[in-house]
Amino acid sequence: MIAMRTGLRPDGTVILPFMPWPSYSRWSEDDLRAVWLYLRSLEPIDHEVPASELTGAAATGRGATRGEGLFDVYCIVCHGEKGSGSPFTTVALTDAASGMDDTTLSGFISEGLPGTSMPGFGKTLTDEQIADLVAIIRTW
Ligand code: HEC
Repeated sequence: MIAMRTGLRPDGTVILPFMPWPSYSRWSEDDLRAVWLYLRSLEPIDHEVPASELTGAAATGRGATRGEGLFDVYCIVCHGEKGSGSPFTTVALTDAASGMDDTTLSGFISEGLPGTSMPGFGKTLTDEQIADLVAIIRTW
């Protein structure tokens, strides 16, 4: 249930939004619990599910190119095209970022923003990947 609300696995890494947890995160407690109870009622099936792996620019790009690939995987669902905003955020990321230095910006990406749906990516992305995200956000 916590994973559906926050997008975080028990080890603190962020679930890829291909599993559309940003939508579930807004469900009521009752609805989330109902789905959870339903899932728990199913017979377990024993099979291997390989972890999703990054592909394309997110995996093999360098600098801002890799940052853009990572943004499209992890951030665009909530922050919109080039951080221009979406129904999930009240503030355009590019506007917010223009008032911050790089340390503050990467701090938000690493730590998240308590009280909002913004997850902390510090356990999911390396410092270099976060620096690449900052680099692409700075070009917008
Ligand atoms: C589940 C939705 C979600 C995802 C995924 C997400 N964010 Fe956020 N993010 C938010 C929300 C909500 C806020 C708070 C801003 C607001 O009040 O609208 C926020 C805030 C931020 C802020 C602080 C600036 C501000 O607007 O206050 C930064 C920087 C940021 N996000 C970067 C990122 C980056 C980079 C990624 C991908 C690695 C990412 N976010 C992924 C929802 C998300």
